This record gives sequence, structure tokens and C-alpha cells, in this order.
Amino acid sequence: MALSKPGPLGFARSLARILAGRPQVPPSLQDNALLRTLLNRRSVRSYADRPIPDDVFAAILEAGRLAPSTVNLQTWSFAVFDVAGWQETFGRTIPFHAQRAIILLGDVHRDKTVLDVFPSSPLVEYTIAVMNAGLAAMAMNIAAEALGVSSVMLSETGRTGLLDAGYLKDKLALPEGVFPLMTIVFGYVRGAYPPMPPKLPLEAICFEGQYREPDPAVMEDWLHQMIAGYKASNLRSSFDAQLNVYRAKIDQAEADLHAMVFGDSADAGSRS
Ligand SMILES: Cc1cc2nc3c(=O)[nH]c(=O)nc-3n(C[C@H](O)[C@H](O)[C@H](O)COP(=O)(O)O)c2cc1C
Repeated sequence: MALSKPGPLGFARSLARILAGRPQVPPSLQDNALLRTLLNRRSVRSYADRPIPDDVFAAILEAGRLAPSTVNLQTWSFAVFDVAGWQETFGRTIPFHAQRAIILLGDVHRDKTVLDVFPSSPLVEYTIAVMNAGLAAMAMNIAAEALGVSSVMLSETGRTGLLDAGYLKDKLALPEGVFPLMTIVFGYVRGAYPPMPPKLPLEAICFEGQYREPDPAVMEDWLHQMIAGYKASNLRSSFDAQLNVYRAKIDQAEADLHAMVFGDSADAGSRS
């Protein structure tokens, strides 16, 4: 399906709308420090050449370790890197020249070494692990923000995310039941903080009673902002080009993950 694209005027209008975007918080709550940290957090893709002290990084990891999880099963593992370790493992710098990285893995292997009591339920296990790891990721992300460290979660960049599951399985010698979900890279922001990217309005994502189909005008407005915002921050690329990167990798990633989660391949996956 061809994307509906903004014309030149629409492009300018979309950019203006992005720049005007602000978190919506009642004035009486605006001074709450944790709320401010949460709402002002941004994904940062440009880092200063300034190391993160060991104690600061340890505190970020501790926030992940203590994150909530289903039945406290802690179905995650963190592969932890500094600049040298990443270079040694992957033969390149951490994406965006960040200073530390964590590859976050769903892990339904570790618990089974002492607690192998449930019937085989790969889809349930996978979903639980993804959900729990996502919470650990966010806890580490917010702990970092609170300590003045920025980060971005990556599913693709640098061959170290969900879309590189097969590659990472080999690189990190992952056993069955341990699967890569994302890489979080950390560092101190270089230059200005990026503006808030286009977020859908609350009315578009909440409903009471029965599910409400999206308003086409609201969705098109958002899409135009996405296209314009992407172009403005990536002059040599485009939103389309980025979608194509994902398109090119997604079949292989689907097959690799299928094999890791279900023990077969997506092709063999026309299972009844
Ligand atoms: C699971 C996950 C994977 C992501 N993968 C990428 C990625 O591969 N490359 C990238 O530049 N940003 C990636 N992001 C960051 C999103 O693009 C970003 O969160 C989104 O644009 C909203 O911006 P914000 O985090 O500043 O609110 C990812 C975010 C999440 C949660």
C-alpha cells in the first residue's frame, strides 16, 4: 500500500506540529520530579565522548534487576558491554557512538533449571518473557534518565536487535529458550535534546466500552508528522527508506525467531 504523503505545505505544517508538541500535565503536577523524568525522556541518537562511571551504570542495571515480572520469574538476561567489549564482540563501535550497551534477552531457559513444571506453551512463555523484558528495559531507561544518562532502544541498528536474532544467537552462544529482543545503548547526549516525536492524542488510544476504530484524519495527520519528522532529522534518508530496511530483514528475522521460540522455522510454520 502506498503511503499517503504530505505535500510541501503539509510538510511544513507537520513539522510545526511536532515542534509544538508538549507533554500534557495538569499545572498542579508539573513539579513532580519522577513524572518530569518520564515525560521528558527522549530516545537519543547522538552521544558525547564521555564515559559513564561504573557506579552509574551499575545503578542502571540494578533498576533492571529489580523490575517487576510475571510470578517474579525474571524471564530476562542482560548481555552487558562497554566500548571495548562491544568492539571485541562485534568488531565495530556501539551504535551512535554510545558508551555502554545492554542486549536485552527474553530468557525462559534459566528458570527451567530449577522449576520445570509447566506444560509446553511456547507462545505464552514467549509473550510473558517479552512483556517482562520490556518492563526491565523501561526501568533501566528511566533510571538512566534520572542519573542524567540518555539512551535509545534498538531493534535493528548495528545487527543487535530483534531483527538480528539468528546472528546474535551465534555471537552470544544463546541456548534454547534465550532470545534477543533489543539493544539499549547509553551515553551522555551530544548537543540538544531531540524534540518529542509525534505522539497520538489520548482520544486515539483510549476507549471506554467497546473498541473504537481509528479516526482516519487523526491517523493521516500522525503519519504525515512521522514522515516529515523523519526527513527533518535524517536528511539523507526517509521514512520510506527506513521501512524498507525493516522490510528487507523481517522475513529472515521471522524465520530465526520462529526457530528459537517454537523449535521450527516459519516456513515449516504452516502448522495446523
Ligand atoms: C523495542 C524498541 C525498538 C526500537 N528500535 C529502534 C531502532 O532500531 N532504531 C532507532 O533509531 N530507534 C528505535 N527505537 C526508538 C523509537 O524509535 C522511539 O522510541 C520512538 O521513535 C519514540 O521516540 P521517543 O522514545 O523519543 O519517545 C526503538 C524503540 C523500542 C521501544
